[in-house]
Amino acid sequence: MNQHARLEDRAIPFIDVAAQRRRLGRAVDDAIARVLAHCQFIQGPEVRALEAALAAFCGARHAIACSSGTDALRLVLMAWGIGPGDAVICPAFTFCATAEVVALCGATPVMADVRPETFNLDPASCERAVTTAKRLGLTPRAVIPVDLFGLPADHDAIAAVAAAHGMLVLDDAAQAFGATYKDRKLGALATATATSFFPAKPLGCYGDGGAIFTDDDELAARLRSLRVHGEGVDKYDAVDIGLTGRLDTLQAAILLEKLKIFPEEIVARERAAARYAAGLAEVVSVPRVGNESNSVWAQYTIRLPPGRRDALASALKAQGIPTGIYYARPLHRQAAYRHFPVADAGLPASERLAAEVISLPMHAYLDEPVQDRIIAAVRRALAD
Ligand SMILES: Cc1ncc(COP(=O)(O)O)c(C=O)c1O
Repeated sequence: MNQHARLEDRAIPFIDVAAQRRRLGRAVDDAIARVLAHCQFIQGPEVRALEAALAAFCGARHAIACSSGTDALRLVLMAWGIGPGDAVICPAFTFCATAEVVALCGATPVMADVRPETFNLDPASCERAVTTAKRLGLTPRAVIPVDLFGLPADHDAIAAVAAAHGMLVLDDAAQAFGATYKDRKLGALATATATSFFPAKPLGCYGDGGAIFTDDDELAARLRSLRVHGEGVDKYDAVDIGLTGRLDTLQAAILLEKLKIFPEEIVARERAAARYAAGLAEVVSVPRVGNESNSVWAQYTIRLPPGRRDALASALKAQGIPTGIYYARPLHRQAAYRHFPVADAGLPASERLAAEVISLPMHAYLDEPVQDRIIAAVRRALAD
């Protein structure tokens, strides 16, 4: 390979998992070797150590490691006994797992709209979704705000709507573990918070993984049972219907090493986001961080007037710059979710965002010359 390939000829990763792997080097190799030596592949000591480290990191009383972000969400709904006849309010502009878990429990996801400037659940639409649910004869039991692209939702406003209607709040922080809302880390805010350790997430492992955070002792105990088939005191005397919902010890060992460098990576992501904003704010709509929050920048998502996105994506692709569209279809436009109810007054912001958003490469190892190349390419493409 030509070691001196020109910067402008090198393909740019969208998320550079390999750069982080190089930095971690021996630390991860040694962590994996320790698990291979003790052979406690299920619920080994690294799982307990990771749970303690995650809880300390975000300030929650309990962290319960589990098999994925989707299972984290699902386990909480199962623990709350949510089922047929219940409505759970979710934003329409999110990854499908947010609503999927509701349907898997036999309950009805009711889609609410988002605020275009933050991409996150609109408390006013959440309120209207409660009205919709009641009119349909459903009992609104919970709301799942999503901290989309790493940015915390408007948690105080959503908590107020939830309290007014006796709903529980399950924060879907799959994309946002490490983010801060009014000086508190996600995980310490809602009744329960779910996150994902999918490799592309800000804190990712080398496979599937997730975690739940809560201050509620009873809920934590129930979640620990449900993630192991609803086991009771005796493993072979199930007290509940549960899941194979554990996190592998190997993944916990990897995450323990990654958590050590995570604070530095968050700072690097913030620096990259600030450089994007400085370079692009005058030519496109760049994301705004409101609500006294800090984003962990799972995605850096800009907005363009409808009709201009495809040309930008093609121009960048031709220069080796990948982009992603999160999400081209809101949930209510996808076949599996089309039949679920939507909040009164509809979902205009979700529809508009689906036509306007495009995400640029974002990770903690985005060096300045590469980022300058991306910024220049976006500016050139939009000037044409
Ligand atoms: C908003 C949101 N919720 C839930 C999930 C599900 O997480 P996992 O892929 O770990 O099951 C994801 C993952 O992409 C997500 O982005």
